[in-house]
Amino acid sequence: MTSHGSFDSNCITLTRFVLAEQRKIPSATGDLTQLLNSIQTAVKAVSSAVRKAGIAKMYGMAGNVNVQGEEVKKLDILSNELFINMLTSSYCTRVLISEENENVIEVTTEKQGKYIVCFDPLDGSSNIDCLVSVGSIFGIYRLPDGVLQPQLKDILQCGRNLVAAGYALYGSATMMVLSIGRGVNGFIYDPAIGEFILTEKNMRIPNRGTIYSINEGYERLWDPAIKQYIHSKKYPSNGKPYGARYVGSMVADVHRTIKYGGIFLYPATVDNPNGKLRLLYECIPMAYIINEAGGKASDGNIDILDIIPKNIHQRSPIILGSTDDVDDVLLCIKNNKN
Ligand code: AHM
Ligand code: MG
Repeated sequence: MTSHGSFDSNCITLTRFVLAEQRKIPSATGDLTQLLNSIQTAVKAVSSAVRKAGIAKMYGMAGNVNVQGEEVKKLDILSNELFINMLTSSYCTRVLISEENENVIEVTTEKQGKYIVCFDPLDGSSNIDCLVSVGSIFGIYRLPDGVLQPQLKDILQCGRNLVAAGYALYGSATMMVLSIGRGVNGFIYDPAIGEFILTEKNMRIPNRGTIYSINEGYERLWDPAIKQYIHSKKYPSNGKPYGARYVGSMVADVHRTIKYGGIFLYPATVDNPNGKLRLLYECIPMAYIINEAGGKASDGNIDILDIIPKNIHQRSPIILGSTDDVDDVLLCIKNNKN
């Protein structure tokens, strides 16, 4: 008996979970555990900053633009610094790639380890000022064996090589969702003890959902196949139409898609033939998690996990979610090609 009223004296914290997973691999050195702990610390700090953003007067523009030419908010900068500082001080990373940094970040010699971490420290930043959910996304790769001086080709690996990936959602609660290649688990942050607690064991996405999620304002700019697909969900020949949900924060939209099923799309548009979302720190980590939860992610042609990125800020169209729903879109695309 470990539960006393509302207290569970034997709850599984994220740290405990990761340690137990590490034990299952006899050759594991503990580096990944250390690395995940440092990400956990960054997430706790970002969560606290997001939640007291108004009080700390962190709203508003920082007066510069990020590498994609978009406005940067102060919280983006703070979150980026937190991730970089926590990751480098884990002594487990070699190269960092952040949405906020134009170039690859090389970790100083004395702090170097064997991992490459790609991250978006605060995604959905256009939602900060109106208190809508935002998130952090990360993907972890191992530097290929024997590489002493990593080149871009060593860093730009396909998603199948990921060692782990996850996201943090700063929503009505803060939650971390993590996969280290053996399913997906979700941990809710308990501020009373400052720990993430395992609340969603082995998360599985339904095979089909009843929700579509896309920025419908851009309909005029979509390919005919996407127009046709969304139309078919709004005006089905039989049965009820799908519901529409679009937060505009990828983490929130993907988290809902895993929980309730359905589909999330950020397709190519006439002005942006590669869509908007970035492969290394948005599409690939999310595709890995969706895959591990039993779903599917594609760029419309190939599985997102099979794409080998050519540059660090590369964008890709993305269609992800319940397998049957993604297959419906892919069929629409195929039929439109013929
Ligand atoms: P960001 O990295 O600048 O925050 O942009 C990424 C976000 C995603 O979270 C979200 O899915 C998408 O942009 C929304 O874009 P749009 O406003 O074009 O629908
Ligand atoms: Mg982003």
